[in-house]
Amino acid sequence: MTRHLLSIDDVSVADIHQLFETAAEMHDVQKREVKKLPALRGRTVINLFFEDSTRTRSSFEIAGKWLSADVINLSAKGSSTSKGESLRDTVLTVTAMGIDGLVMRHSASGAAHQVAGWLDIPVINAGDGTHEHPTQALLDGYTLTRRLGSLEGKHVAIVGDLTHSRVFRSNIKSLTKLGASVTAVAPPTLMPSGVGPWSEEAGFATSYDLDAVLPEADAVMMLRVQKERMSGGYFPSPREYTVGYGLTRQRLGTLKPGTPILHPGPMNRGLEIAADAADAADSLILDQVSAGVAVRMAVLYHLLAGEEAAQ
Ligand code: NCD
Repeated sequence: MTRHLLSIDDVSVADIHQLFETAAEMHDVQKREVKKLPALRGRTVINLFFEDSTRTRSSFEIAGKWLSADVINLSAKGSSTSKGESLRDTVLTVTAMGIDGLVMRHSASGAAHQVAGWLDIPVINAGDGTHEHPTQALLDGYTLTRRLGSLEGKHVAIVGDLTHSRVFRSNIKSLTKLGASVTAVAPPTLMPSGVGPWSEEAGFATSYDLDAVLPEADAVMMLRVQKERMSGGYFPSPREYTVGYGLTRQRLGTLKPGTPILHPGPMNRGLEIAADAADAADSLILDQVSAGVAVRMAVLYHLLAGEEAAQ
């Protein structure tokens, strides 16, 4: 594995399988009464979050703690960033305290990459703007692999606000690396621009017609309508979005029996996903959350525990 995890480009297919194997071992820790492994004892990890987060931040915090690392959470609100300190000064300041790893989320695409160039400790990208969110894609791939077995030849539909989605961009890379064929489904206004040539190069299909894709899918990943990243009107009304692109109760009936449903959260219930779908027996949404801790433990372990330990 590379020194940092900034993008799915940083992990090979073999790395992904190795991470999944470690994650499976880590997953067992979650079922124990005493959830502690000594692997990162004496190491300190900072979670530096410049954007809101519930599950990613707590998941990294729990992952670090279960590996016995000391974990510090810093958010932009309440830090000196709100006093005008530059990103470079902020990260140099916190790392000068002697930390061993930095997990960061930032609203600017490329921020984690830039920070990694300034530091000599591993940097893990926990979401940079609309660019990438590699640990989310890894936990999605892990969850799907556990459910479907190998993803080789499996057809995954990724549906929703793709333009603004770093989860989509990371998943395209990881799912295709794992051998799945992906169809990206969105209204034309939320399909990333240039997706035609890009999709050919990246090896995935695109569609504006959710109803045509659902019966063919082996898994469906719904993505959130990211209102906070929208500057204009991308669709006429929430109702119209749901009619065209929501996983509604009626659409559930068109899936092959047992088709798993994923969503990285937070969900807009009633907009991109109906309660019947979110809470369906085949919904893996809470499995994704639980896998998130195991996968992040695996990532922290491989990046921070040192060469010998990672063998
Ligand atoms: C995603 C994110 O923040 O990029 N959520 C997450 O990490 N669980 C997706 C989203 O915000 O819609």
